[in-house]
Amino acid sequence: MFPGSLGQSISGKALDAGKWSYDTINPRDFTTDKHGTVDDTPYGGGAGMVLRADVLESALLSISPSSRGRVIYMSPRGKVLNQNLVQELSREPNLTILCGRYEGVDQRFLDAYDVEEISIGDYVLSGGEPAAIITMDACIRLLDGVMGNEDTAGDESFSNGLLEYPHYTRPAQWTDANGQTHDVPEILKNGHHAKIKEWQAEQSLAITKTNRPDLLKK
Ligand code: ADE
Repeated sequence: MFPGSLGQSISGKALDAGKWSYDTINPRDFTTDKHGTVDDTPYGGGAGMVLRADVLESALLSISPSSRGRVIYMSPRGKVLNQNLVQELSREPNLTILCGRYEGVDQRFLDAYDVEEISIGDYVLSGGEPAAIITMDACIRLLDGVMGNEDTAGDESFSNGLLEYPHYTRPAQWTDANGQTHDVPEILKNGHHAKIKEWQAEQSLAITKTNRPDLLKK
């Protein structure tokens, strides 16, 4: 699953340029039985399997302490990822990300190694890998020299607590397949910088009010 989409486009170029790098570790390589068993049934009963603490510990300890960094477990139970947390994580020199499968991870491992749980939203994936890829993508684009235009990260959604204003490009008038014409807002075409900024700020506020009233409250 790695680098997956991170091997393409902006993150892919940054990977090739050495702006970031990654290693994958397979917990199965740290099992002691001949079947390579990484999980077992949960104490107390219930559905699914639980990843074993001893196996995860061996996998974690195979990473040198100096390159381990914060240890994160992608889990729907975690603190929800947002742009503030992304900025914080992107400043870390190293991160270790545990991707769960099955029902979960033995709690004792999470407790013993101060593992931080991070969720990408209130829904459940079949495994943590896509969540890790999303978290990594959001961090990688903030690294120095990764985005061509350093300005792009400034005005975007969440950077000021609001959602981004709408964008338009040529043609100035577009006729859709139903024959309906759509014009670019006049204000964006007359080049009055201060007025444009004001209009964009109004639009940001309006779209945030409609789509994410919770952000406005904050
Ligand atoms: N693993 C499964 N669901 C997840 C979620 N919503 N966030 C992070 N990791 C997950």
